[in-house]
Amino acid sequence: GAAELGPYRHYMQKEIFEQPRAIADTLEGVQAVVPELFGDGAHRVFQDIDSVLILACGTSYYSGCTAKYWLEGIAKIPTQVEIASEYRYRESVPNPRTLVVTISQSGETADTLAALRHARELGMEHTLTVCNVSTSAMVRECKLAYITRAGVEIGVASTKAFTTQLAALFLLALSLAEVKGRVTESQVASHLKSMRHLPAALSSVLALEPQIIGWAEQFAGKENALFLGRGLHYPIALEGALKLKEITYIHAEAYAAGELKHGPLALVTSQMPVVTVAPNDTLLEKLKSNMQEVRARGGVLYVLADSDTRIESEDGINVIRMPEHYGPLSPLLHVVPLQLLAYHTACARGTDVDKPRNLAKSVTVE
Ligand code: G6P
Repeated sequence: GAAELGPYRHYMQKEIFEQPRAIADTLEGVQAVVPELFGDGAHRVFQDIDSVLILACGTSYYSGCTAKYWLEGIAKIPTQVEIASEYRYRESVPNPRTLVVTISQSGETADTLAALRHARELGMEHTLTVCNVSTSAMVRECKLAYITRAGVEIGVASTKAFTTQLAALFLLALSLAEVKGRVTESQVASHLKSMRHLPAALSSVLALEPQIIGWAEQFAGKENALFLGRGLHYPIALEGALKLKEITYIHAEAYAAGELKHGPLALVTSQMPVVTVAPNDTLLEKLKSNMQEVRARGGVLYVLADSDTRIESEDGINVIRMPEHYGPLSPLLHVVPLQLLAYHTACARGTDVDKPRNLAKSVTVE
């Protein structure tokens, strides 16, 4: 009811703004990066495994796609991410030394549960879930678990569950890296310090809301949008496009920016807004040339630029600058303006934000 919503118009908006608190709660009690954060016996499991298989659906699948970059980049562990409904029905090559990681807000998604059971039937006994509901079937059926503390999520379009999953998965990557001897103590300490600063960093990103509302007014009249990202931010582009289609019914697609020339460039006109997630990493120069390709075809760019990039607003290029540069944790910050963009575009179009047509919060039947 209205009392619960406080100053917010919808649960989704409230949940977007709860993210600093949700991350703080998810990291509460984390004194050090130790396997036991994931349950008793995690140390032995982490020693034994040689690869990771992530299974999930929807937004949770995109947090898995992001985690792959951390698991391979930081922990150097070969990682596969698979849509649960695909995995459960295809023939795959099981490896008993794989850590099977399911990611689920509800812990009750039918396909994800079935995929987990399928993996176990194939002889994979090392199972871990990142889940927001401690009493769920998923937590009961996995040996290890990290419970995110997003709190109850009501909006059908997932927001705070996603960022808390990312926090938990980053801890998993750090913990595996430590067990496997792939990080130094001081590297872990510095990552942990950045994690602790996330609630403050998220709050400054949320303060960008007025600028995002300006973008949303321009998106409200469009029927298509393209999202581009590279590397760690490619899954964030995918998540931004998913948020937009779920609640605004605007057709949105995300592409790894390097694939632009292999198809989507043919769609670019002045009626196709192109959202670009542009963190200041090694791929920035390449991303800038992708942006020129869009401009040359009259496409209008909406750029989420990192604090220390030199991309400026000009004709056809709208830049919102992120308050801080955040290295490997930057996906947690860059997704927030995309959540707000979808939210405010939906408000401008007058759609039912918290209960979009045809969608359910938790898909417990196939
Ligand atoms: C539904 C929800 C999504 C969610 C997905 C997976 O499609 O609308 O927001 O990401 O299910 O749900 P889970 O509870 O497994 O994370």
